[in-house]
Amino acid sequence: MVTGPCRIERAGIKDLPLMLELWRCIPGLGVGSGDEEESLRLFMERNPSTCLVLKDGERLLGTVLGGFDGRRGYIYHLAVHPDYQGQGYGRELLKEVLHELHKLGAPKIHLFAFNENQLAARFYRSQGWEWRRDIQVFSWDMGKWKTEDV
Ligand SMILES: CC(C)(COP(=O)(O)OP(=O)(O)OC[C@H]1O[C@@H](n2cnc3c(N)ncnc32)[C@H](O)[C@@H]1OP(=O)(O)O)[C@@H](O)C(=O)NCCC(=O)NCCS
Repeated sequence: MVTGPCRIERAGIKDLPLMLELWRCIPGLGVGSGDEEESLRLFMERNPSTCLVLKDGERLLGTVLGGFDGRRGYIYHLAVHPDYQGQGYGRELLKEVLHELHKLGAPKIHLFAFNENQLAARFYRSQGWEWRRDIQVFSWDMGKWKTEDV
């Protein structure tokens, strides 16, 4: 449970600029295509109960984006401001998003982390997550399609 002045609440569209600002100052967090305000707004509208922020007053200190596609749950951008890491906030954000995904009926949750992000690997393993070595991740970039393919 988060104690003190900090609280976890649902993320709102108005939080987006501060969320992006936070992510950009956190090493290890991949802010890339998919993180345009428009796509994030769509994600939050589709997953209103599972996109959460950690706040101290108006200050935004942490985020987690959870989504459920009806089959699997996904977690993106779990992040805590560097000055506030190591105080249990990441664990609480993770617990809360799992609680919300469970309420939606998600039976299993996946997340992606860069190979070089050893901090994330240690964190998730400390929280009991399974590191999947039996799965390869494949991606398709829609930009590869020529107009006539669409
Ligand atoms: C990963 C992250 C969200 C963890 O948040 P945090 O608030 O620092 O983590 P917590 O304080 O809740 O730590 C919970 C547990 O994780 C483990 N842990 C956290 N940071 C760790 C580290 N640097 N090394 C080893 N274990 C660590 C500890 O076991 C800790 O439990 P304990 O304090 O009871 O021993 C945070 O470090 C972060 O924002 N990292 C950068 C962004 C990122 O890489 N996100 C993941 C993208 S997939």
